[in-house]
Amino acid sequence: MALVQIGSVLLYASAGLCVFLMLLNRVFILMSNTRVKAAATFSAFAVLVGGGGTLGISLARPPWVYAPLALLLLVLFGEGRRAFIRRSCAGSGPVDTTPHTFNLSTPVTTTDLVLHRYRLPCSKWRDAPLRIVHLSDLHVHPTLPLEYFQEVVSLAEQSEPDLALFTGDFITTVAALPELAKVLRPIARLQTYAVLGNHDYWADPDAVRKVILESGLCLLSDETVALSSGSSKIAITGYDHPWGTKEKSIGPRRDDVLHVVLSHTPDNIYRISASSPDVVFSGHYHAGQIRIPYIGPIVVPSVYGRRFDHGHFVVNDTHLFVASGIGAASPPVRIYCQPDIFVVDVTSESGA
Ligand SMILES: [Fe+2]
Repeated sequence: MALVQIGSVLLYASAGLCVFLMLLNRVFILMSNTRVKAAATFSAFAVLVGGGGTLGISLARPPWVYAPLALLLLVLFGEGRRAFIRRSCAGSGPVDTTPHTFNLSTPVTTTDLVLHRYRLPCSKWRDAPLRIVHLSDLHVHPTLPLEYFQEVVSLAEQSEPDLALFTGDFITTVAALPELAKVLRPIARLQTYAVLGNHDYWADPDAVRKVILESGLCLLSDETVALSSGSSKIAITGYDHPWGTKEKSIGPRRDDVLHVVLSHTPDNIYRISASSPDVVFSGHYHAGQIRIPYIGPIVVPSVYGRRFDHGHFVVNDTHLFVASGIGAASPPVRIYCQPDIFVVDVTSESGA
């Protein structure tokens, strides 16, 4: 094969791979786990990457090669735009992360939990710091040790939170419900709140709700509860739309109430931030679950691609925290992607 044809094959296959990854991000990963999903994903890969490469053999010269070239340039432009928007939304980094064990020689990081601590000065908060611990995407799974999940919850409790928040995806399949019941318990001084995730809806939402409620957690489904700590007031809203497909008002902003929202997917951030809550906690993305060192995730199940893959962001003056989560969906493996807990201290503006 001539050098031109080899280059053409690589060009068309790369363009096909980009289209496949876009479909994977936006379509296939949003499907429930069935044989149809696996077959459709594999077929799309074969057609787009294999078919693309085959096209490259016969369509190796202009004007044909301009089409895959244009597509790759479009992808590059999109990545540049994403990086720009992400930078404009960037929040602060964690003030302390323990332990941090990232190591190139140990790619499998499924249970290498880290704890990220953030400080969030807020003009509405006038009391001693309010400590919020955030856990997401437990994905309790029979192939992972039950002790891992129990230790994670204990670690979260040891941070002595005032509020604890679980942002969905407690399980992947109903087979894990008995284990889930042995993991969940209230761990905060004031209350432990939860919303469901898309996997909970796919598995058996009523059965998951039952376990959560019997475990003593407060499950919020499109409702807001009010509580107070010292002289400060807090409102907690559970935004129960794991895929971000429905419009839902979370109520007007109140200047004297710290408004905290739980939303399984960060994809809801633009419609939630229109109501100007103070802080939104999300998970869902698993930080990609498989990450390439120094580059980031390959696939993030989001309409915004990799924009909000992990960390702290500020969108329309609303703070968004996106945790990597605790477990992993099928396959239950993380590569260069550590599970995490967020501990956020909401302080007065002076930081006291
Ligand atoms: Fe998840």
